[in-house]
Amino acid sequence: MVSNREPFIHRKRPDGTVECIRPASGMATALHPIMMASGGTWVAQGAGDADRDTVDANDCVMVPPEAPGYRLRRVWLDPEVERGFYYGLSNEGLWPLCHITFTRPEFRPQDWLAYKEANRIFAEAVLKEADGGKALVFIQDYHFCLLPRMLREMSGGRIVSAHFWHIPWPNREVFRAFPWGEELLDGLLGNDLLGFHIHYHCQNFLGTVDRALEARVDTDRSEITRGGHLTRVRPFPISIDFEADNKLATSPEVAAAMQRWLQRLPGLKGRKIGASIERLDYSKGIPQRIHGLEHFFEQHPESLGKLCFVQIAVPSRDHLASYQAEQAAVDFAVARINERFGTSDWQPVYLLKEHHGPLDMMALHRLADFFMVNSLHDGMNLVAKEFVASRSDERGVLILSLFTGASRELTQAISINPYAIEEISVAVHNALTMSAGRQQRRMRLMREQVAHQNVYRWASRLLMAMLRIEHPDDEDDDELLEQQPFEDA
Ligand code: G6P
Repeated sequence: MVSNREPFIHRKRPDGTVECIRPASGMATALHPIMMASGGTWVAQGAGDADRDTVDANDCVMVPPEAPGYRLRRVWLDPEVERGFYYGLSNEGLWPLCHITFTRPEFRPQDWLAYKEANRIFAEAVLKEADGGKALVFIQDYHFCLLPRMLREMSGGRIVSAHFWHIPWPNREVFRAFPWGEELLDGLLGNDLLGFHIHYHCQNFLGTVDRALEARVDTDRSEITRGGHLTRVRPFPISIDFEADNKLATSPEVAAAMQRWLQRLPGLKGRKIGASIERLDYSKGIPQRIHGLEHFFEQHPESLGKLCFVQIAVPSRDHLASYQAEQAAVDFAVARINERFGTSDWQPVYLLKEHHGPLDMMALHRLADFFMVNSLHDGMNLVAKEFVASRSDERGVLILSLFTGASRELTQAISINPYAIEEISVAVHNALTMSAGRQQRRMRLMREQVAHQNVYRWASRLLMAMLRIEHPDDEDDDELLEQQPFEDA
């Protein structure tokens, strides 16, 4: 497994002791249970200030610390390379280009050089791990577009690679703005398999390649051949470990965490609760949500004093101007609604800009009468699925942006256009007035969907597709997969 973000970060506490935390990353959250089930090595950038102190002589550490299940191999990038690769090309270039939230992407030649350099450093680390043998490499996301081609060439074809793109892929007109498009696409076509969340992103990718470079694009079979090498392009909607979340949801630890929330924010007691949890990112539409809530209070003065909204916004990529601007916009929107409507004993919105562990997040899911995901654009959005998995009581309402991959599966959510403030306000009203029976019917259907399409099924489908590349004569086993658990696949 290769990703930029590592699944476990070791960092120093103010008192000098070391803690191990799970990062706020949908990608890392989804892939961790797969690695626990399969074992193997996860190659990722070491980013924590205590990461170097916790690895062995080969830069590896077994994780999770309390019950080791796989090896984490950390790769070190010098700050200059990290700046250009991670902050620059990946998050000021590709992230806004693919999300289309009207934040203009930046394409700097020096960032592109750093991106190439980081991909090369990772290629060397992966080849070292493969140790001259055959290996199946599963690459994650937009940080590593050049890695597949590098691996193919440097390993002399011994490496089979699958790549999953966790964010949207834009249409070909939008992608044309990328200055080094041909090289980037050529890198991705070094893969044997390339996965997106939804069919629409696959089509966009096929269209982009068709326009940008010399390759045979077979739209019917969803395959691309370039230089004699075939890349299959397939949709695999990612998911979560439903059973694990479902079990944890009813644990005494989560019950205790719910009590802690009520002690920490006593204003929640006896009031309706709304909640959102995400990274503080402009693609998540946080200011729009707060404006929607403000509009709701204007339209429904009878709700003043009766509803509290808890917004967890985990600081993210905060060296970047676009993220600092978003942070200021969120602060401003929250201060405004609280000043306008708050009273001596009621605060409409609690904004918590800090990292929270899985127990606290799940406890908040369980406390919420409604949960809001109003991303302006999101490949999938796993938090929506986590909310559903945590509601074994079959209560609570999900308000979900129609610009998320998740909205294609969670059709029982209240769907909104996140740009339409009025729709947000109506959705909040509908959520608060939805009968218990209706909540139950909708939640039950959504839970069935997530329980069935869980992350193991996602991984199994991907693995099956990979196995078919190695053994093309095997009969189509999609139906078999319906009956088989992950281990068999
Ligand atoms: C998205 C990306 C992931 C990334 C996560 C957190 O979910 O698809 O690859 O890990 O955001 O972002 P960060 O920059 O903190 O890794």
